[in-house]
Amino acid sequence: MTDPLTLLNDRVGGIAYGGDYNPEQWPREVWREDVRLMRAAGVNLVTLGVFSWSRIQPRPDTYDWSLLDEVLDLVHRNGIGVDLATPTAAPPPWFTRAHPQARPVTSGGTRLSHGSRQVFCPSHPAYAEAADALVEALAIRYRAHPAVVLWHVHNEWGNHNALCYCDTSAAAFRDWLRARHGSLDVLNEAWGTDFWSQRYGDWEEIDPPRDTTAFHNPGQDLDFRRFSSDALLARHRAESRILRRFAPGIPLTTNLMGTLEKKVDGHAFAAECDLVSVDHYLTAADPEGHVGLALNADLARGMAGGRPWLLMEHSTSAVNWQPVNVAKKPDETRRNSLTHLARGADGVLFFQWRQSRAGAEKWHSAMLPHGGTDSRVWKEVSRLGADLADLTEVVGTRVVSEVAVLFDWQTWWALELEARPSGEVRYLEAVRDWYEALWSLNITCDLVPPGADLTPYRAVLAPNLYLLSDEDAKNVTRYVERGGQLAVGYFSGVVDHHDRVRPGGHPGALRDVLGLRVDEYLPLRAGEAARLDGGGHAVRWAERIEPRECETVLSFADAPDGGPAPGAPAVTRNRYGRGTAWYAGTRLPREKLRDLVRSVCEQGGAAPVVDGPPGLEAVRRSGPDGSYLFLVNHTDSTRSVPADGTGLLGATVRDGRAVVPAGAVVVVREHPAKRRP
Ligand code: GLA
Repeated sequence: MTDPLTLLNDRVGGIAYGGDYNPEQWPREVWREDVRLMRAAGVNLVTLGVFSWSRIQPRPDTYDWSLLDEVLDLVHRNGIGVDLATPTAAPPPWFTRAHPQARPVTSGGTRLSHGSRQVFCPSHPAYAEAADALVEALAIRYRAHPAVVLWHVHNEWGNHNALCYCDTSAAAFRDWLRARHGSLDVLNEAWGTDFWSQRYGDWEEIDPPRDTTAFHNPGQDLDFRRFSSDALLARHRAESRILRRFAPGIPLTTNLMGTLEKKVDGHAFAAECDLVSVDHYLTAADPEGHVGLALNADLARGMAGGRPWLLMEHSTSAVNWQPVNVAKKPDETRRNSLTHLARGADGVLFFQWRQSRAGAEKWHSAMLPHGGTDSRVWKEVSRLGADLADLTEVVGTRVVSEVAVLFDWQTWWALELEARPSGEVRYLEAVRDWYEALWSLNITCDLVPPGADLTPYRAVLAPNLYLLSDEDAKNVTRYVERGGQLAVGYFSGVVDHHDRVRPGGHPGALRDVLGLRVDEYLPLRAGEAARLDGGGHAVRWAERIEPRECETVLSFADAPDGGPAPGAPAVTRNRYGRGTAWYAGTRLPREKLRDLVRSVCEQGGAAPVVDGPPGLEAVRRSGPDGSYLFLVNHTDSTRSVPADGTGLLGATVRDGRAVVPAGAVVVVREHPAKRRP
């Protein structure tokens, strides 16, 4: 079956290119200019309607389709497809006024006011009723409109209202708990409520984890996160059901937030979409933001099960929501966009088409900036449109990864609850460390949930997988038994699905496969370091590892600088079944982690895409008709790597090498084509 995104690409005539289009902010004359400039820039897809609810339904009993009717016809006449949003992320003021109890409530009991977006409680029936009616009307109105090629369900579910603590949410939470746990005895056991005399005798006694005197019950906190994500997922499903019923045949997606947010379980939402789309924004304070970008892209591909995916939003330059909103450097957007493409995106869109004059996001960059077409950003946007048109032939090709990194929202939530051994251990930091090692080696990976089918992978990395359910623990163990190379990072496999410590010594779920026992977790203070044998210092975390069947690969140095476990193993390796399980019980310095990751991958036979110089990112997309090597130069000087084939985007391929100027991206259509990374 042809992939829904590939069909969409056919309809828009190539790689999807465009952004959020908010014509309601502008007079009609501007719309004409918009479509003219969209065509000039090569835009073929716009996301319409995200924040149009108050225009479409100005009063509870009145729909006004005039704006959408006109804009849909206009863009269609100009050959531009529409990703039509259900405008349910921003209920209008009349809704809040009619249903003040549908506003979300914070953990401290403050009911939030109108005046922003996502001002609704995900569990409130009045919101569900209003949103469902609107979605149905929208679907019926536009199901046959030839411009509509994709449904965009809501917008970033839970970005601002994921956790609502109101009484309606409390009642829904209790229902969710009843369905999950079945009985209070089971819940009491799962949450360990005998601690601090929290034993529940009636479901009505259970509240969301509202502000209280000291630490919350972690089981309650974790289940509230799950419930909250599920409450939004139920809304996503409800909208999707309506769209599929009244407007079948048009694929649907929702823009997920990937690594940007831990609020909802991205894997669960991705499973409900016909095609996966994600947003990504660079963090200005991160000097290696391009590594985080690549990580997010590989997560998107993991969520898409390896299929092509869509970059629904990123920025042409600065955003407006960070402490200091730094403008992108010349050509940075091109590198960003083409990196997403290299990593499997078949569409590149921005927030937003035209920079707003007013409203909360007027200082957020756009494809068409305040200054109009006489601007650096516009020139780059136009050039990017032309580049993407030149790369049409890559549509539908796939990135093949031989390595998986296990990535899990459940563990992210659990790890960052209150009262942990170290508040400085952060999930994304650990994931990023391991990912960076792969990135710098040009070894491509998919980020997949721990329950995923791991058989296609030659190596699997599990950074800081603190929470591991019984089934997922079996999955990773089976992978090693059958010959896989598994590398596990510190403080992993510690608790079960309910955040209960696994008995018998840490790390309970992985003790056997790793062939060791951890006697004690030994977090390091900020600024503290433990010297490693052979040089380098570990930070953040240490453990007193007692080897059982495993061998020691690297130890902490002896006292006095070896940290809290001098002379003890820091990295171990264990033969288990037909495979090997490696363990790093500390936060290794960059070089040492790279060495470890390189060894694990070598043992498994996972190869780098190219053996390139530092700072040159390489990814391969391949398909039945050929393969494409993408090379992104993040340095200030020209780099070259071995390659055979035809240079695209003006690339030079000479004497068996592709030349990549400083800051540039080139693509090589390879001869002969290659199937492996
Ligand atoms: C998110 C939202 C957009 C916009 C951008 C700004 O991604 O989906 O509506 O607010 O952030 O970066």
